[in-house]
Formats: sequence, structure tokens, C-alpha cells
Amino acid sequence: MTKIHIFDTTLRDGEQSPGVNLNQLEKLEIAKQLERLGIDRMEAGFPASSKGDFKAVKAIADTIKDTSVTGLARVVKSDIDAAWEALKGAADPAIHVFMATSPIHMTYKLKMTPEQVIDTSVEMVKYARKRFPQVQWSAEDASRSDLNFLVQIIEKVIDAGATVINLPDTVGYATPQEYGQMFKFIQDNVPNLDGVRLSCHCHNDLGMAVANSIAAVENGATQVEGTVNGIGERAGNVALEEVSVALKIRSDFYPYETGLKLKEIKRTSDLVAKLTGMHVQANKAVIGRNAFAHESGIHQDGVLKNAETYEIITPEMVGVQSNTLFLGKHSGRHAFKDRIEELGYQLSDEKLQEAFEMFKQLTDRKREVTDDDLFMILMDIQTDSSAVSKYELEMFQVQYGTNNIPTATVSLTTPNGETVEAASTGQGSVEAVYAALELLVQEDVCLQDYQLQSVGGGKDALAEAYVQLTVNGETVNGRGSAQDVIEASATAYLNAVNRYVVQKQSEKIANTVK
Ligand code: KIV
Ligand code: ZN
Repeated sequence: MTKIHIFDTTLRDGEQSPGVNLNQLEKLEIAKQLERLGIDRMEAGFPASSKGDFKAVKAIADTIKDTSVTGLARVVKSDIDAAWEALKGAADPAIHVFMATSPIHMTYKLKMTPEQVIDTSVEMVKYARKRFPQVQWSAEDASRSDLNFLVQIIEKVIDAGATVINLPDTVGYATPQEYGQMFKFIQDNVPNLDGVRLSCHCHNDLGMAVANSIAAVENGATQVEGTVNGIGERAGNVALEEVSVALKIRSDFYPYETGLKLKEIKRTSDLVAKLTGMHVQANKAVIGRNAFAHESGIHQDGVLKNAETYEIITPEMVGVQSNTLFLGKHSGRHAFKDRIEELGYQLSDEKLQEAFEMFKQLTDRKREVTDDDLFMILMDIQTDSSAVSKYELEMFQVQYGTNNIPTATVSLTTPNGETVEAASTGQGSVEAVYAALELLVQEDVCLQDYQLQSVGGGKDALAEAYVQLTVNGETVNGRGSAQDVIEASATAYLNAVNRYVVQKQSEKIANTVK
């Protein structure tokens, strides 16, 4: 079995998905879960792109010990320097530099000749190699590049010190046959590939990302790059859970193995979906809610007689459990701590106490607390920067019915500690609450997107709301959960506003320190 290295770019290419913006604590939570999943290398971000990204990459590099951490850089010295500053504390640091090689990108985007592209790539790979033990060079838009030009430039960047060569299908245009042939051509024609890893990176614009990645592996790629749940630019990147499970289930056909702990897939997928607000479609391969549901009578009958009649992947293999009830009103601190440790979380005493109090509040309203509910509590605890003063919801009251105008009264504590109250109306109850909040929040807020769903099943399931706002022109996301949909909606709104407030306060502190 050939080992296929898994390179995760959820925190970089995935975070480039429209509408996704994760804060540092959320990125760190995802990074820790990627480490548990057994990813070989994670791309934590693009350090030169913003101060926030730099800090998040640094925090991840300084925390993660069992997975190599990398960051993206253009072929410019300042990007490579920023990447080194962010990554030098990592246990196994690597850099990922990229330059476009297709005629269309070189002519129109870079406005450079092929010779200039070669010279710049070579010079910057050499520069990066002075700091990083591992340098990945990517030929952006490789699948639309001239194959002989690729051979020429790859040979030179390897001589300059590149240890991984990545050939992306940047615009998701290649067919599996073409993409596989490109890898074969490179294998057959680049003379100095020994000891160098070939990597594939597929986008899913034509829905061929998994097939293309596997075609690359069949033709010599030993690294697959992708994201959890397939999130990413436009139609997304290849979904790593799909590639890894396909290789496992069809190991009779494919002589390759990844080191992923497949049982961690479900938890990783849930975490990414919840923190990004990008929900997984019900019929999504491997991880969708319906992936293991058998609806037709004939199928159900077959599965009851022998599960293998219609079930090629067991839910257990990817960590999907039936949502067993486990804790309730009478569960003590000990049982609570044991359960969250079983779920893979280690909390400080202070955070444990905070989580326990939230759990107890929930049991006052909900008889049976499920793993999904606990997961919501843990996510809130782990990603909340409670040290900063923010808006707090004190109270809300809404009156609405079929024959009257929905009216909301909301009371808040502002970041300055003042209590303020306002009332407003709307076409619906949520709109009325949002209109009142808009009067109270001292920023210019505009709602762009709103989603609502339930956590697990049952009459008393928690509601989970996601919003996307622009606050003073900057896009921020927020989420909130509660038993009541209006409370969840109000919490999500304030969560988004608070993320903006926290961000601005930390920028202010950073500038004062300077
Ligand atoms: O799709 C792409 O080409 C990329 C590069 C930056 C590697 O994401
Ligand atoms: Zn990409």
C-alpha cells in the first residue's frame, strides 16, 4: 500500500469560501480537530494577507505538535518572511509558495513572460529554503498550463530546493483522464523527482474533484490537498472525507492508504459546518444526514436481512452514532466531565465550570441533553473571547400573532456597561427583534444572510441560528443557539456584532502597544 499524504487547506482555501470568516479561537479549534483526525499537514492560513491571519497561523503553529503546519505565500520576500515569523515555532514548519503557470494567468494576471515566471519562482524557492526545511511550490492553474513548460519549471524549482510540487486544477476544469495524464507526463519527463512529493489540488466546479484527485493518485501523486466538507472558493475544493473513505472502501481496487482516523470524520465535519455556517447537504456523500438512511421498503428490508445489501460504508466507520441520550437534570459534574472527555475535549477548571453551568441551565429547560447539545456548549466555550467587553442581551419580549403587527422590546448592556432599551416592529417576530437591536447597537449594521436549523431531533431540540452582517461595511458572521428560535436569532445577531467589537478592540490594543 502506498501512503497518500493528506494536506488540509480548510483554514486557507476553505476559509476563502464566500461568507466564511473564522476568528482565531475558531481556527484553533478546527486545527486541533484536524490534528485528531490525523491530517499530515494543515495549511493554517496566508500570514501576509492580514494581521488577523498572521496571528491565527502563529497561534496554530505554536499549539499543534503532531501535524505539520504550513502557510501560503506569494513568491515575494515579504510574504515568505511573514510566513516564517508566523510558523517558526511549529514542530514541523513548512511553506507553500505559488505562482501561476498557465498562458492566460501569466499574460493577463501576472503580465510576465514564462522566463520571468521561472526566474522568480526559482529565486523565491531558494529564499524560502534558507528558512524552511519543507518548501512546497504550486503551479497555479497547472491543468491549463503547457506540459513542456511545466516540466521545465518543475525541474528548476526542485533544483532550487522545493520538496513538494503541487499541480492544482485551480478552476476545476480538468477531466480525470487529462488530470491523470498531466501527472504521468510530469513523472515521465522531470528527471529530478526522486525524493520529491507530487501533490494534487482539485476544485469542484464541474463536480469532478474527487475523480480528478484519485486519477492523480493513480498517476503518481502521493499528496492530496482538500478541505473538510469540500468547502472552498466557488464550488469548493475536493472533500477530504470523500477521498479518504473512497480509498478505504475500495482498497480492493486502490493500493493506497491515508493515515486518517476515519472515526473522527463526523466530528470534524460537524465542527467545520457549525463554525463556518456552511451546512452539509443531506445527501452529501459520506457525511450527509441521509448518507445512511434507507427510505424505500425494499432497501429497508434488504438492510434488515443483511446490511451489506445496500450499505457499503458503516456509520460507525466515519464516527456517526445514533444520538444516544446520556445526561439529564440529575447528572453531576463528574458524569459531565467524563462525557466531555470521551468527546475528546480537555477543558481548564475554569472553562469546565463555565460549561457545567451552561449544561445545568440547559437541563432546566430540556429533559434530555444529547451529544449534539453538548457539542454546542463546548463550541461556545472554546471560541468565546470572554475577556473583552461586549454587548450582552439582558431581556427581550415579543408580541405577535396572525392579526397584529409583530412588536419587540429589547434590553442590552453595551460594551461601556450602560443598559439600553428599545422597541420596534417588523413584518415578522425576528425582524422586529432585529429592528430593535439595530436601534441599540452603536454600529452601522446590515443583515445579509439568515439561516435557522435545529440541533438534532425532538420537540425540545435546540434552535441554531446563523447570520451574516455587515458592520460598518465589514462582513462578519455570527451564530447562536437556544431553545427558542427568536432567542437563538437575537444571540446570533449579537454574536456577529460582538465579533466585530472584539476584533476592533484587539486592533486598538495592538496599535497602542506599538
Ligand atoms: O487552487 C489553487 O491553485 C490554489 C493555489 C494557491 C495552490 O489554491
Ligand atoms: Zn485552491
